[in-house]
Amino acid sequence: MSSGQGGPTPTHVAIIMDGNGRWAQMRGLPRQEGHRRGLEALRRTVRNASDLGIGVLTLYSFSTENWRRPQAEVSFLMGLLRHFVEKDLAELSAANVQVRIIGSRQDLAPDLRRLVEHAEARTRGNTGLILAIAFNYGARDEIVRAARALAADAAAGRVEPRAIDEAALSARLDTHDLPDPELVIRTSGETRISNFLLWQAAYAEFVFTPVMWPDFDRAAFEDALAQYRQRERRFGGLSTPPGRSVGVA
Ligand code: IPE
Ligand code: IPE
Ligand code: MG
Repeated sequence: MSSGQGGPTPTHVAIIMDGNGRWAQMRGLPRQEGHRRGLEALRRTVRNASDLGIGVLTLYSFSTENWRRPQAEVSFLMGLLRHFVEKDLAELSAANVQVRIIGSRQDLAPDLRRLVEHAEARTRGNTGLILAIAFNYGARDEIVRAARALAADAAAGRVEPRAIDEAALSARLDTHDLPDPELVIRTSGETRISNFLLWQAAYAEFVFTPVMWPDFDRAAFEDALAQYRQRERRFGGLSTPPGRSVGVA
């Protein structure tokens, strides 16, 4: 995919949606209000991603570490996911969006799990934007679950330990059928990865913006994409001067 600005548009953009609490705090509002406004930013970003021709959008909504927050905030965030799936599913489906949830489902309430499964089943045939919501997601947990699946396959004689390669592990991650993200954006000025897509982001470009997530708008999104287009991606190789290709003579 290419754009008018010279560089390519990434196929897969992943976003660490951070700063809801500080957004609220700066306005003397309760943190919950920040999360509510964060949900509006999420809706806006899904529409913008579709418009901008992005293929996959992964949004980090709740980490395996976020259980450490006060119980009231955890419940509120669970409620917000429930509300989002119930309220937005029809609209997302009409917009041809395919919804996925990545992360561990075991700790989710049974009704929330059913709701998520229903959303995935209802949108499975959609061919537009793939929206992956990372909920109760932690990259280390995801890799451990994949390793456990590989170990089980090896113990049952379905896979030879010697034959285990990167593709075998990738195939057992929650993102097994998605391309790796080319661009990871984090809002709120924090410059860490917080256990997000550790495997998949091995060669991603990172854009850190001071914008708090509830304020993330079309302009902020386009700015991140413009920064991505300026980057030179080398994947461990050498840069290619214009007009020359690197090959074995
Ligand atoms: C991001 O905003 C939402 C979640 C992590 C669930 P925060 O709630 O982390 O907001 P800050 O970082 O406290 O400002
Ligand atoms: C990362 O944000 C998780 C999500 C955005 C869901 P946090 O606010 O939880 O990350 P830390 O604690 O600042 O690293
Ligand atoms: Mg935060």
